[in-house]
Amino acid sequence: MPAVTYVEFDGTQHVVDVAEGENVMRGALNNDLPGIIGECGGGLACATCHCYVDDVWANQAGTPTSKEESEMLESTSAPIKATSRLSCQIFMTTALDGLVVHLPETQY
Ligand code: FES
Repeated sequence: MPAVTYVEFDGTQHVVDVAEGENVMRGALNNDLPGIIGECGGGLACATCHCYVDDVWANQAGTPTSKEESEMLESTSAPIKATSRLSCQIFMTTALDGLVVHLPETQY
């Protein structure tokens, strides 16, 4: 199973396996990780799953994949950056094994 490293705002790292086809938000929730809320369950309606894709992974996963995601990123609580994503819209593949995402200071 591909692994994802979640880096909390304070630098604490969590490495968890996230099944292919599962999204990065769900991977965090399934493992009780802090820093991602996912209030709408992945419906592109809350922006509480905001994350920053690590620069190393920017080409593979650092760009929103839909107009809806881009628009919803305008309502995040923490400032957006070049690699801001909604983690519910990052779906795991074997090519993303080792993905690193940084979590913002707040989701509200
Ligand atoms: S969980 Fe609500 S937009 Fe991602």
